[in-house]
Amino acid sequence: MAVRRTVSAPIQPLLPIVPDGGARIDLEQVRQILPQIVDSLVDAVVVVNRNLQVVAANRRYLEAFGSGRAQLVGVPCTVCLACPEHAANGGGEPCGTCDAIELKQPQRRLRSMRDASGGQRRWEGTFTPVTDRAGEVSHVVEVWRDISDRTQLEAQLSHNERLASLGILAAGVAHEINNPLASMLAGIESLERSLKRAKLDPAQSAEAAEVLAVLERETIRCRETTDKLMLLAQPHSVAPAWVDLNCAVRDTLALLRHQLNKQRVRAETALEETLPPLWGKETAVRSVCMNLLMNALQAMPEGGTLLVRTERAGAGLALHVLDDGPGVPLELEDRIWDPFFTTKPIGQGTGLGLSITQRIVHRHGGSIRLERRAAGGAHFVVELPLEGPGGLGG
Ligand SMILES: Nc1ncnc2c1ncn2[C@@H]1O[C@H](COP(=O)(O)OP(=O)(O)O)[C@@H](O)[C@H]1O
Ligand SMILES: [Mg+2]
Repeated sequence: MAVRRTVSAPIQPLLPIVPDGGARIDLEQVRQILPQIVDSLVDAVVVVNRNLQVVAANRRYLEAFGSGRAQLVGVPCTVCLACPEHAANGGGEPCGTCDAIELKQPQRRLRSMRDASGGQRRWEGTFTPVTDRAGEVSHVVEVWRDISDRTQLEAQLSHNERLASLGILAAGVAHEINNPLASMLAGIESLERSLKRAKLDPAQSAEAAEVLAVLERETIRCRETTDKLMLLAQPHSVAPAWVDLNCAVRDTLALLRHQLNKQRVRAETALEETLPPLWGKETAVRSVCMNLLMNALQAMPEGGTLLVRTERAGAGLALHVLDDGPGVPLELEDRIWDPFFTTKPIGQGTGLGLSITQRIVHRHGGSIRLERRAAGGAHFVVELPLEGPGGLGG
């Protein structure tokens, strides 16, 4: 933790806990039981005073980050703790505790750390300021929760979300596949009829060759469609590569073509042709396109126009997805990014699309925002640097 400043005024003791109704409490009993309660918490807890001296730490904190308890109390937290905040920013930036003292507001941080066995664990830290009677921050309670399992669950949910999208797409894909299959069958029948004739003259053989050519072309089309589907279904853990954003947009539109036609939605594109490639994860880029395009499509059940635009934006790229549906109501603008927030009926919406999209974009060092269209409808803008910090995760 970076020591930003200290306050010289005396520090008031922590206030005792008083149950509702002001019932008398046995302070001695509270004093005895409180450390036991704090020690048995599964979260790692450390209490620091406003001079950044450690006041208390529970067993879990010491196991996870700390050294011996004897060396802790009264010592500046920067000195005696392997603090995850300090470790993450090298002490160069104000930590959550410093911010909680200065801003008098609870703070939240996410940190990835290796545990004793060398495994990567993810922690969520909350820094809650405790104010004394004078309204000054006297202490900060840091609670670190191991959210590695939850992070894994989210990854699983993100996979499920893609599977859910795939379910809706299945109809479209089936349509794409059925037409070429029908052509193939017709071609085969035609070939059979030709073959039934005893001798093939040159014209017949030319016809057979043509049919075969059609068969080949349509089979390739089938394969391309399933290839696109397979790309979408791959786990996000594939290695980053140079990704063509325009190609991802075109393929996503191709997968949605049947649904677009069914809903009488006209798809317009304005794709900057000289767009440079993007260093990221192909499947993640495709997920971003799919989630935004699906939302736009679902917003226009009675038809409309979907516009997808790509362009250079500063040192990176921008993707714009515009629809002329009803738009997002003002009061919901902040909530649409929350996991599981959906206004759609069960079976149509999981409420995960935008939260996953936002996470993917942020991991790449980009941004996503919703803009209001003068004529109504939603306009989502994604801006991505050409080379994000770790490629597009997800
Ligand atoms: N293009 C859009 N037009 C109107 N509302 C939208 C649009 N995109 C997203 N929303 C709103 O944001 C909510 C959350 O979207 P999302 O996270 O993708 O979950 P889901 O699509 O499963 O509901 C949607 O339920 C909808 O209310
Ligand atoms: Mg969605």
